[in-house]
Amino acid sequence: MWLLSKNVLPEDKKEEMMQQYIIGNWKMNGTKAEAQKLASGFLKRIQEAERPLPKIVLCPSYPYLTTVFDILKNSPIEMGAQDVFPEKSGPYTGDVSAIQLTDVGCKYVIVGHSERRLHHKEDCALIRKKNDVAIKAGLRPILCIGESAEERKSGKALHVISSQLKSDLPESFSPHEMIIAYEPLWAIGTGHLPSHEEIEEVMGLIKHELSLHVSGGGLVPILYGGSVTAENALGLLELPHVDGLLVGGASLKLDDFWDVINASQR
Ligand code: 13P
Repeated sequence: MWLLSKNVLPEDKKEEMMQQYIIGNWKMNGTKAEAQKLASGFLKRIQEAERPLPKIVLCPSYPYLTTVFDILKNSPIEMGAQDVFPEKSGPYTGDVSAIQLTDVGCKYVIVGHSERRLHHKEDCALIRKKNDVAIKAGLRPILCIGESAEERKSGKALHVISSQLKSDLPESFSPHEMIIAYEPLWAIGTGHLPSHEEIEEVMGLIKHELSLHVSGGGLVPILYGGSVTAENALGLLELPHVDGLLVGGASLKLDDFWDVINASQR
């Protein structure tokens, strides 16, 4: 059951939340040398930037978190992980806890990505627990939700999104503690995107549901993800309900990701 949260949004967080977020999910790509090159490349561009920039977050694979953090630590670029295990410590071979992620410099963590739901059979109960544990450890989850092609075709997209929200979100959280990413499964890595009207319809629904259930919930940043490119980023970021983008493939190319960042509107 998703309860009405009475958590209040601190005043100093409001301004930060009005920014757009451009988040790069590097997935399981690259080598240490490539991670270093990308992170240093972004850092150099940020230092030379002549306009205010959106909030930028890079999410490398686990083995490169420390490498990337060492490059970004005194910069405005922040770092996230791609997953978290919902226990504090113990006999969980191969898993990584929220505390360990904050310890190496992560401020964010992607939770419930459709690739994890698919390849690791992650269900709503697990995803909800991960969100909860991450928030308690001071990590901000980027919760990914989205419908399959079949669900979209059969007119169930809005229903699926709404029920994922209810079952994946923790019972209680403040708006500045969460980010939601709408990533239709059929748009990831395919080059096929929903229309701007379809994106706005889903984003509007998410904002409405959040505002009903969380005090200040309409301020939770809602990102779009799925086949974002340097070419389509501006159109997406101009949509009124889109608070940023979660970018896969294009975040691995310095020039393309830089163009996406520069398409930001706030
Ligand atoms: P692509 O941008 O490669 O489609 O990936 C989107 C995604 O899954 C980001 O989390």
